[in-house]
Amino acid sequence: MIGDWLDIGWVNEIPVRGSRTVTVDGAGEIAVFRTGDDNVFALRNRCPHKGGPLSQGIVHGHSVACPLHNWNIALATGEAQGEDKGCTPTIPVKVDGGRVLICRTGTLQAAA
Ligand code: FES
Repeated sequence: MIGDWLDIGWVNEIPVRGSRTVTVDGAGEIAVFRTGDDNVFALRNRCPHKGGPLSQGIVHGHSVACPLHNWNIALATGEAQGEDKGCTPTIPVKVDGGRVLICRTGTLQAAA
């Protein structure tokens, strides 16, 4: 749906293997990650374990290691990896002309 995508800035403003956060009204803080192979993913910025700030974790491959207790969260699905169980909501994201767009409806669903 046109108009439902929020432009949050240039992809080049997100460090490779890093992230930035954006706060969306009604949806809280969203973490937008850029991987080493230049894919972009967006997750709610709360670890499914105890709410750690995933945006401050270390990105490796297509996962992020939570800074609090080192759970590994898959960026594409938000699922905890290995023995750990839990899931962080994902938000649809796309890159268009070098701009990063996140789905506003998706952010609200992630907050629900
Ligand atoms: S809060 Fe993320 S691993 Fe514990």
